[in-house]
Amino acid sequence: MSKHEIRIPEGFILGAAASAWQTEGWSGKKPGQDSYIDAWYQNDQRVWHKGYGPAIATDFANRYREDVALMVASGITHYRTSVNWSRFLTDYENATVDEEYASYYENLIDELHRHGIELMLCLEHYEVPAQLFENYGGWQSKHVVGLFEKYAERVFSRFAGKVKRWFVFNEPVVVQTRVYLDALRWPYEQNTNKWMQWNHHKNLATAKVVRLFRQKGYEGTIGTILNPEVTYPRSSAPHDVKAARIYDLFYNRVFLDPAIKGTYPEELLQLLEKHDVQWEVTEEELAVIADNTVDEVGLNLYYPHRVKAPSRAWNPETPFHPAFYYEHFELPGRRMNPSRGWEIEPRIVYDMAQRMKEEYGNLPWFVAESGMGVENEAQYKSETGEIQDHYRISFISEHLYQTLRAHAEGCNCQGYMVWAFTDNVSPMNAFKNRYGLIEIDLNNNRQRRMKKSAHWFRELRNSGVLVLELNNEHR
Ligand code: BG6
Repeated sequence: MSKHEIRIPEGFILGAAASAWQTEGWSGKKPGQDSYIDAWYQNDQRVWHKGYGPAIATDFANRYREDVALMVASGITHYRTSVNWSRFLTDYENATVDEEYASYYENLIDELHRHGIELMLCLEHYEVPAQLFENYGGWQSKHVVGLFEKYAERVFSRFAGKVKRWFVFNEPVVVQTRVYLDALRWPYEQNTNKWMQWNHHKNLATAKVVRLFRQKGYEGTIGTILNPEVTYPRSSAPHDVKAARIYDLFYNRVFLDPAIKGTYPEELLQLLEKHDVQWEVTEEELAVIADNTVDEVGLNLYYPHRVKAPSRAWNPETPFHPAFYYEHFELPGRRMNPSRGWEIEPRIVYDMAQRMKEEYGNLPWFVAESGMGVENEAQYKSETGEIQDHYRISFISEHLYQTLRAHAEGCNCQGYMVWAFTDNVSPMNAFKNRYGLIEIDLNNNRQRRMKKSAHWFRELRNSGVLVLELNNEHR
């Protein structure tokens, strides 16, 4: 082990992230303003850990001033969250703005601005309105793509200028993968065709919103936030390498390529055709995607993913699923976060950075989410009641180190954001795994308290130096 000091470059983002639905709560929400997530929670509350969900969340809508003060105390330079589409409008067809919600947002923007914290805003973090999900099947419908564009236009015309870094989606692959591919989430429908249609419409919506942003000449940049799973094959044998390549096509490149290169990978299109996956796409839509690629991407990087070639035969009665081509693989002796069941491998950041440089033209990007969800954190409280989350400090240090290492080698990564600023609710996991730099005490009126990691983060920001104990494996 040796101690290393790594200087953080000037202007490097040291931020934290969240989303509207996971923090703000329903206070002030009007009838008919449910999102898909709200509807899921109402229809299927039993699957949400201990019944916690978006109803109160962290009550951020009422307590954001307190939270902004804590952001200052924690030293973060940037805060990323979403505008809640289902709440920003009262009428989705005509894009009528909910003035009350919009002014709450305006106040939040001003508060952050006053305290010198840059806000990055995302237009969709699973917040497709429930009405559009019920009436049109959500992102299944081309009409909904048009409604999203109208919504984006309303948000930009209200806040562009005040907010200069925009993102169309957060993790656009997630909802339809859990709902239509794996049938793990409400309404539990396995339908690979719908899965691909949602993917395509989100790619199209990204391109259309990028076009709108540029046509109107708004100040700033427009990107999107993706969650590529850095995927390693079990071995270098061709069958394992093929499994990893195909996994990457279906879950990563299906969004990375259209957003950055403006095209779907040819091999993905061939596989979809081979397996008769039905989705509607026109030449005109492909041209919009080709002409409107993003300025930057945020990448959410939590864990490595490992695959091997499938060892079992596929039942021909089973509808097509990309798992036809792979099986998950657990690396013997891997380092784990047992609470979340995710392997810990900080090198994913460095490897993804190299990939961005080699395969994606070294487009500007940053780590948009990285963090460690831990259960029962109260057990780590000191005598004074502060959570001593040394494991989180190590996790952040090691991942930030890999980001800085890649940056020093010419990769265009511009920052690192922790998920999440405070503990918050997540789909199903609710408040089970705590991610925050700031504790939310559910037994005590959601009282906020800085964890040890929040103090450490402020020191990191103030000193501009990451101090790390390195063993050979990390270099
Ligand atoms: C990211 C999402 O994938 O993971 C967040 O953008 C989510 O919304 C986070 O909360 C952590 O996931 P989980 O299920 O462990 O809380």
